[in-house]
Amino acid sequence: MTRVHPGPRDAGPIKTYLDCDTGIDDAMALLYLHHRPEVDLLGVGTVSGNVTSAQAARNTLALLELVGSSTPVAVGERDPLAQAFAGGAPSVHGRAGTGNVQLPPSARLPHELDAPDLLIRLAREHPGALRVIATGPLTNLAVALRREPELPGLVAEVTIMGGAALAPGNITPAAEANIAGDPEAAAAVFAADWPLTMVGLDVTMQHRLTEEHRGKLLTGEHEPARVIGQMLDRYLDFYVGIFGVRGCALHDPLAAAIGVGLVVPSLAPTVRVEVDTTTGPGRGGTVADLRGQYVDYPAQEGANCRVVLAVDDAFADDLVATLLQIPGAG
Ligand code: BDR
Ligand code: CA
Repeated sequence: MTRVHPGPRDAGPIKTYLDCDTGIDDAMALLYLHHRPEVDLLGVGTVSGNVTSAQAARNTLALLELVGSSTPVAVGERDPLAQAFAGGAPSVHGRAGTGNVQLPPSARLPHELDAPDLLIRLAREHPGALRVIATGPLTNLAVALRREPELPGLVAEVTIMGGAALAPGNITPAAEANIAGDPEAAAAVFAADWPLTMVGLDVTMQHRLTEEHRGKLLTGEHEPARVIGQMLDRYLDFYVGIFGVRGCALHDPLAAAIGVGLVVPSLAPTVRVEVDTTTGPGRGGTVADLRGQYVDYPAQEGANCRVVLAVDDAFADDLVATLLQIPGAG
């Protein structure tokens, strides 16, 4: 039986755990979640994807330092479940994941628990309330499921940036990078009995941050927005090869905003999604059975995921406005 999505938020700020591979767009998602008053960011775990999990933790700690946050950051899995870590995405995010911007390192150490254990601890401390957002490969979530089989019953909802239902892949013709980064982990996450939302390339490629937005960030009053603006230079360069203009997809921030309910999709059927874990050209693809998209009830047999297919809000403007408001630590 598919568990239903929680619907309207619980009272008070939304207890949230972010699992990420920081990364330029992860950085925007992180600062967005940190700043929004509707959100209580209780912990961040890092995973290898754009960079190693250790480097992602250094980046995350440095960004949180910039905004004066002491949210715990836990290092997660270094390697995917069944394949070697491919070495990250330096051509997209820069060698260290911050678009070649040198962030002052944080003096704070990562949490004593690793990321899967931090997730499990937070889920146990807040049974039924924790929203989990994953913006990197799903290795930490899969390991957490192995360590705590009751985890699906403890969390309110899981939202992932990953996959593509109708859109092409971005790392192969069939696969999106986060799913391709660990297809076996993704398969475990899709198989678990928790309300799952997939924010994939179908929508994240449609919501773009432009050079004009970057200009606003660069001239912002506060340092965090200016730093993000600098980091985006590298990202926008990369996207010239994709879109033909300097404008980037807002993968991770869009997933984060949907995950905490601040952006509500205009089309998001709950259907059956299967991850391709074969070794063929489809590896890492997400096969969404959209034959079930026309009705919500009775649910499609085996429906396991709400697949976001359209978001009408002008999200890029809202994101930039939020980033511009974030005061620096100093
Ligand atoms: C995803 O891959 C990473 O490069 C981004 O941070 C995002 O999470 C997009 O496919
Ligand atoms: Ca990411």
